[in-house]
Amino acid sequence: MADSAVPVISTGLQNIYITESKICRVDGENGKLYYRGYSIDTIARNSNYEEVAYLLIYGNLPKRQELEAFRQQLKNEREIPDSIVKLIKESANKADPMDVLRTAVSYLSIYDNETKDQSQESNIRKSIRLISKISSIVAAIGRIRDGFDYVHPDKSLGHTENFLYMLKGRRPAKEELVPVEMMYILQAEHSSNASTFSTIVTGSTLSDIYSAVTSGIATLKGPLHGGADEEALRMMYAIGKPENTEKYIEEALAGKQKIMGFGHRVYKAYDPRARIIKDYLLTLQNHASEEVRNLTKIALIAEKMMIDKLGKSHGIWPNVDFFAGPVYRSADIKLEMFTPMFAASRIAGWSAHMLEYWKDNKLIRPLEYYTGQLDLQYIPIDKR
Ligand code: CMC
Repeated sequence: MADSAVPVISTGLQNIYITESKICRVDGENGKLYYRGYSIDTIARNSNYEEVAYLLIYGNLPKRQELEAFRQQLKNEREIPDSIVKLIKESANKADPMDVLRTAVSYLSIYDNETKDQSQESNIRKSIRLISKISSIVAAIGRIRDGFDYVHPDKSLGHTENFLYMLKGRRPAKEELVPVEMMYILQAEHSSNASTFSTIVTGSTLSDIYSAVTSGIATLKGPLHGGADEEALRMMYAIGKPENTEKYIEEALAGKQKIMGFGHRVYKAYDPRARIIKDYLLTLQNHASEEVRNLTKIALIAEKMMIDKLGKSHGIWPNVDFFAGPVYRSADIKLEMFTPMFAASRIAGWSAHMLEYWKDNKLIRPLEYYTGQLDLQYIPIDKR
């Protein structure tokens, strides 16, 4: 290309492939999602978070003994250092939980004597450590924010059950465990989304996995990405009553506001994860709390309006974040914990991508097309 020719610029890296991958296929045209070749519907119906994490990390479903060994490794890694509990105590009430989580995960690297070991075996061990410990950190943040003491993990419990135990200080009821397990499974992986890309960018410099994942957490925080579930629920609270929904959405769209929990860079059809979450929400209605029933009514009216107005015509459909809020509320999870829990689940995907990318690492270094001036004359400060 001649210097003067304007290159094709793909803002937001839209439609740019950065690597080959065998981890996840997002079929945006047809609204389908696959983890390692298994459709998300099959996974959501049959699997559990530990098995999904194993599948993402190792590339195949585990045999019974392999799964048991993996579960045991996760259990053995659950405890977090006292200084991280102290950090959470000092910051949980002053800072956004995602800021506390990002700092705590970065801090974790100091306690791992393998941080600098870039062998695949060590990175698998660290991935398992991170999958285990991030859940403990998120639970500790939620619990300490609520004014309670840190609860140590319980090795007799499964991964999400232990998360809820550490968050709530008691073993969860089935009605709390089922939706949280479902959300953990559905949010575990999603191809080269912004946070995974940012994880890979950091990892591609051959920085360690803690640094890479810290980048991922920082990126997940934003409302255009992982933070959308919180914003969608805030909107439902702001709407208040089902009868206010139509006016609210009309006015928001007229004011060119985005409706959080709708739209996606890749899906131009209904996000299959949103459908699974919605279906679950609909099964709850007879025994759900008044709050959840009210939120569900608001969500259904908003969904119908958005699909009528922007669905087929503009390819804007509900995404994973839209129905997540009412579902989390059915398990009495506070809004501020949604995005940290997203991270506690997505760590499996981030790790899987790092392990895959490092097998054939290439530094990520795109170009910018410079449109500023050149060869300006430097004028001394007292003459400007
Ligand atoms: N509500 C109203 N209009 C929308 C929405 C929405 N949620 N999403 C996109 N649009 C419109 C947008 O205003 C723009 O219109 P116009 O061409 O007239 O300016 C057009 O659709 C294209 O939008 P864009 O933001 O340029 O497209 P994108 O591919 O960059 O957007 C997105 C993807 C997810 C950032 C966007 O849909 C959005 O901001 N949605 C709300 C936030 C959200 O729910 N994020 C979670 C995404 S799913 C979880 C994850 O993987 O992170």
